[in-house]
Amino acid sequence: MLSRCLAAIALAAGPVSAVFPVSTSCPANVPVSCQNTTVYEDTCCFNHPGGQVLLTQFWDTNPSTGPADSWTIHGLWPDNCDGTWEEYCDKDREYFNITAILEPSAPCTLQYMQKFWKDYNGDDEDFWEHEFNKHGTCMSSLEPACYPDYEPGHEVIDYFKRTVKLFKTLPSYEWLAEAGIVPSTTATYSRAEIQAVLRAHHGHDVIINCNRNRELNELWYHYNIRGSVQSGEYIPVEPVGSPSTCPQTGIRYLPKYSNPTPPTPTTTTTGPSPTVSLPPGLLSGKGWLYVETGSASYGGFLISAGKWYRQGGGTPATYTATPNAAGDAFTLKTSKGPCTIQSDSSLLCDASVSATNASPFGFDGKYLTYAGSSSFYSIGLPSGTAQGTVYTNPQSVEFKATWSPR
Ligand SMILES: *[C@@H]1O[C@H](CO)[C@@H](O)[C@H](O)[C@H]1NC(C)=O
Ligand SMILES: *[C@@H]1O[C@H](CO)[C@@H](O)[C@H](O)[C@H]1NC(C)=O
Repeated sequence: MLSRCLAAIALAAGPVSAVFPVSTSCPANVPVSCQNTTVYEDTCCFNHPGGQVLLTQFWDTNPSTGPADSWTIHGLWPDNCDGTWEEYCDKDREYFNITAILEPSAPCTLQYMQKFWKDYNGDDEDFWEHEFNKHGTCMSSLEPACYPDYEPGHEVIDYFKRTVKLFKTLPSYEWLAEAGIVPSTTATYSRAEIQAVLRAHHGHDVIINCNRNRELNELWYHYNIRGSVQSGEYIPVEPVGSPSTCPQTGIRYLPKYSNPTPPTPTTTTTGPSPTVSLPPGLLSGKGWLYVETGSASYGGFLISAGKWYRQGGGTPATYTATPNAAGDAFTLKTSKGPCTIQSDSSLLCDASVSATNASPFGFDGKYLTYAGSSSFYSIGLPSGTAQGTVYTNPQSVEFKATWSPR
């Protein structure tokens, strides 16, 4: 699938890429949305009233979602020209089968979404439905009447394809990193410096939002469109509407996965809790095992069979640690079964492993250990959907596994 999608990208780089399904093509001289000076009636080619379109991005750290070195997609929203907005515009056109629609018609878009359009509760389909049903139904050029041979789902394909395509032109992580604004548990940044970097790329102000802990978590890029949402030209503009919510100074930009949002005792989350510092020795209870390597910016995590998975998407498995009777080590198990280090030194969690064969593990205060060592190994860095076998005997790639209690 990956190579098929890369090939598709290469082909699409040609002069004109066929867009399926084809909506009405628009005259070249249509006015730009929100910038018309006379009334323009054809709302298939001129988005009205939602002519100010926002591509919004998330930086989720608690729980973390997506690759550690990329922002993720929140949505594509049609705001009115004055910053107000409509939502849920067509109850009869709400969809609850986004994945099923995209699978046959836009598999590469779907694959990309599975990595970069992530729900922090782990239910991506539900999140995509929410975004389309709330916002996509309010885009005038996506209405059924704009499609000559409309069938349900055509506008869904266009909405997701166009959002992904636009998101790919906005590599916020790289832009900020090139300017030295990188995720950190200790550094803080000012609104002006973040704003200056983003403005230099987008050409206009970008709305930057923070949560109540001053942590940067959202970016909103604003556009007007010449033509339709699906195939028109997106023209960056100054935002009209809600202002940035980040403070002027002291903004935190936390790393994903690896680390500490200081635990907020009053809130409970369903996702990974921050890695907390724990005393060395015994682990007990449920947690996630995240992987750290010296070479890969995104280490990934261990999945239920005891394999290492690095793709941005996916969900770490819950491991249950149980101290042994002697109180000097603990065993691990997952939904697949108890975990053991096999004779070839590979890790396996499986129903075929008897409880008595579950291997003893330790914890050095930061990392999982086996036989006194926190080093685990793999033959190469797993990429794409590959699952790396984890060894305790040296192989080409060395890594460590942190414990994130849940
Ligand atoms: C722009 O077009 C919309 C939709 O036709 C219309 O309601 C609005 O009055 C127009 N704006 C101007 C300045 O003519
Ligand atoms: C998705 O759901 C709609 C109804 O909301 C239906 O018309 C369409 O056939 C479904 N598409 C797929 C691919 O399941």
